[in-house]
Amino acid sequence: MDALAPDTPALPLDAQGILELAARSMFHLFSSVSQGMFLVDLSGRIVWVNEGYQRFLPELGLTHVDQFLGHMVEDVIPNTQMRRVLETGEAVLIDLLTNRAGTFVVSRIPLRGDDEQVIGAIGIVLFDHPETTLQPLISKFALLQRDLDDARRELAVQRGRQLRAGSGDGTRRARHTFASFVGSSPAAAEVKRQARRAAQSSSPVLLLGETGTGKELLAHAIHAASARAAGPFVSVNIAAVPDTLLEAEFFGVAPGAYTGADRKPRDGKFKLADGGTLFLDEIGDMPQSLQAKLLRALQEGEIEPLGSNQLVPFDVRVVAATSRDLSALVREGTFREDLYYRLHVLPLRVPPLRERRSDIPALVELLGEDMALRNGTATPELRPDALALLMGQPWRGNIRELRNVLEQAAMRSESQSIDAEQLTRILRETGVEPAAPLAEAAPAVADDRALLRPLAEQVAEVEQRAIAAALRASAGNKQAAARALGISRATLYGRLENPE
Ligand SMILES: Nc1ncnc2c1ncn2[C@@H]1O[C@H](COP(=O)(O)OP(=O)(O)OP(=O)(O)O)[C@@H](O)[C@H]1O
Ligand SMILES: [Mg+2]
Repeated sequence: MDALAPDTPALPLDAQGILELAARSMFHLFSSVSQGMFLVDLSGRIVWVNEGYQRFLPELGLTHVDQFLGHMVEDVIPNTQMRRVLETGEAVLIDLLTNRAGTFVVSRIPLRGDDEQVIGAIGIVLFDHPETTLQPLISKFALLQRDLDDARRELAVQRGRQLRAGSGDGTRRARHTFASFVGSSPAAAEVKRQARRAAQSSSPVLLLGETGTGKELLAHAIHAASARAAGPFVSVNIAAVPDTLLEAEFFGVAPGAYTGADRKPRDGKFKLADGGTLFLDEIGDMPQSLQAKLLRALQEGEIEPLGSNQLVPFDVRVVAATSRDLSALVREGTFREDLYYRLHVLPLRVPPLRERRSDIPALVELLGEDMALRNGTATPELRPDALALLMGQPWRGNIRELRNVLEQAAMRSESQSIDAEQLTRILRETGVEPAAPLAEAAPAVADDRALLRPLAEQVAEVEQRAIAAALRASAGNKQAAARALGISRATLYGRLENPE
């Protein structure tokens, strides 16, 4: 089997011999292709340096090899990490070292004695001037980095789209929980408390409040906290569906109901929401003919699909919302009184933003983060005077308007941080005549009667005011706000999330 001629130089027969040969060959390879090598002993003293390395000595400020050999490695090579290799016994196969002599691609390998103990280390300069020698690698890396950045941005946009898509009609999943309803002011805490209670019951809930106050968000949260959370959450925006189509939208169309091509049999929202929650948004805009049918459905627990003469039972919890003054509509006669009372079992008044100004800093922070996520860009920081200005505005459009102003601010500001002056300009440009900042806007309440309330409530209010002030002063920085209040950051978070 031995194919080698007897005079061919043979490999050593023992494994150890082969290893030594390989090590020697590799050492020669490294020493010829690398830019330079040196060895240190266990104490970190340089005991050997090759010819190649010696040309770096002048750049290290050394005129003779004697100033290098025999010296401690960190005394002659600034920023070297050789000592770590000696201490840990772990090789660093590739690293960048920068010091006064330039930037180098280096390798550091521990040397082990017969008993495997580290006895020294070898330092290798693989390349000097990596910016030129490694150019192909660096440009490839830059390309990959760019692709990665693009992918990250795309992902952020898609996430934003998903978030937005969830707000369309007919969504089958509640996107928000009570934690998404930001606010620790007494007014916000109270509406959350009532909504949590409502979630426990199966009666209809009526959410009343100005536009943009978070009614839809609360409807999602009530569903998510209810026993029906695992069931569907289906919403109908009554104002957005033409009156003629609403009945089919609500109750569905039975097969063979119409000969017309435009009405195919389909399930109505009541059917789709079976076992879950049906959110009737803008209920104040419901046409009268349908009000009677809705009332009957709610009373009987049965619906009659269009073109069918069969009653179908449903198991749906109704949450309705409107920004209109429903009791005034009843007085005017445009909203049926009996339906009003049917829906009015658990009415919740969602407070406007100007009744919960202390929530503005936290909302600004949340909306800023959300915008950053959707647009993949950094949002500008508001300086304390700008935040005070925001807190003083009447916010007729409530949180939706606040979001718009912040979006405008992000688009229009030239700098990363926005002060009151810039914000005033931005508010004017978006058609809002700014009101005074909060400090001047809020009259002091010195009325004794205002103090004849439960002490715990008043203490909680003062606490919330102090937290809002600290957040304002620290431009939303919670660490700094907690420090200013002499409480831990965890306590501050606790108060912000769970003020009750
Ligand atoms: N407390 C809150 N915390 C965080 N975001 C909120 C809060 N309230 C409202 N928002 C946000 O403000 C925007 C408007 O809220 P939502 O759509 O729930 O208002 P609405 O009361 O249904 O308004 P409209 O009557 O105009 O339909 C949404 O983007 C919502 O996520
Ligand atoms: Mg709404």
